[in-house]
Amino acid sequence: MASKAFAVLEQEAGLAASLTGRDLCSITDLTPAEVAGILELAHKVKAKPSDYRHALDAKQMVMFFEKSSLRTRLTFEAAINTVGGSAIFVDQTQSPLGERESLGDIARNLERWVSLIVLRTYAHETITEMAQYASVPVINALSDLEHPCQALADFMTLEERFGSLKGFRFAYVGDGNNVCHSLMLTAAQLGAHCTIGTPKNYAPKADIVAQARAIANITGSDITLVNDPVAAVTGADAIYTDVCTSMGFEHEATKRAPIFKSYQVNETLMAYAAPHAVFMHCLPAHRNAEVTDAVLDGPQSVVFDQAENRMHAQKALMLMLLGGAKQVK
Ligand code: CP
Ligand code: NVA
Repeated sequence: MASKAFAVLEQEAGLAASLTGRDLCSITDLTPAEVAGILELAHKVKAKPSDYRHALDAKQMVMFFEKSSLRTRLTFEAAINTVGGSAIFVDQTQSPLGERESLGDIARNLERWVSLIVLRTYAHETITEMAQYASVPVINALSDLEHPCQALADFMTLEERFGSLKGFRFAYVGDGNNVCHSLMLTAAQLGAHCTIGTPKNYAPKADIVAQARAIANITGSDITLVNDPVAAVTGADAIYTDVCTSMGFEHEATKRAPIFKSYQVNETLMAYAAPHAVFMHCLPAHRNAEVTDAVLDGPQSVVFDQAENRMHAQKALMLMLLGGAKQVK
């Protein structure tokens, strides 16, 4: 209730203070401790959402999306609505952000009206440039380079199932894309081993791999790149895949289909993983392309837990960036 006093939770106060006002363009904008802290809060928010019902009262968030979305748009909207704030959605699919007016001028307008800017773009630089100009936090809701909010929800999902992820064996097969980048970096931050299996020429970007390995050196995990899908998933605790053709690459779909055929996650490939392994996908899936119906709808699939956790993880993220995490009923 709004009238009840809010108490500061000692253990979260320091982290919340350090995150207040920050941006999330890349998952590496966060330290490993900050990622762990956001996930810890996400679990609490999920367990007791009513505690946070008024934590962001009257805060406004604006979302500019250059690409389609189901999950990201709706989970951000549901998240802010249920902590007392509200969302304004701007469909930017017909023209890129910055075409009509410079990003700097847009930022200097937005910061006068809203507390948070959420962007889904083609160019990652659109997000970093907006963050540079805007005095309010900017969140990457997917760019051509990263999808950090997805990774937060995905590792939250794994923590729910497996507890601490130190030494966890995470495997990703398919395109070394935006989702792959954020997953690899987050695995390193949480001390999970990460093996990526991609076709030649579709590996994750070398500078992101180098960043992940630098983090992994500190947290004690291994980042391994292979081309053989069986080698990638053998003994894994989780197998993750994404579409072969991301938004913006649709013109390559016909060329890519045969290249990615042997990377399909089907029951044969799943059988190489640990018996307790889960199957993960950010969705939307191209059914019977990168994953078969049998796996996607099968008992090992946690894809809808991932989708649900987008909302809880983003709620925790917003609470941290907007200072609401300090306030618990
Ligand atoms: N996983 C994900 O980001 O889904 P949407 O593209 O529907 O937002
Ligand atoms: N890699 C995909 C993820 C969609 C959520 C894309 O960028 O289209």
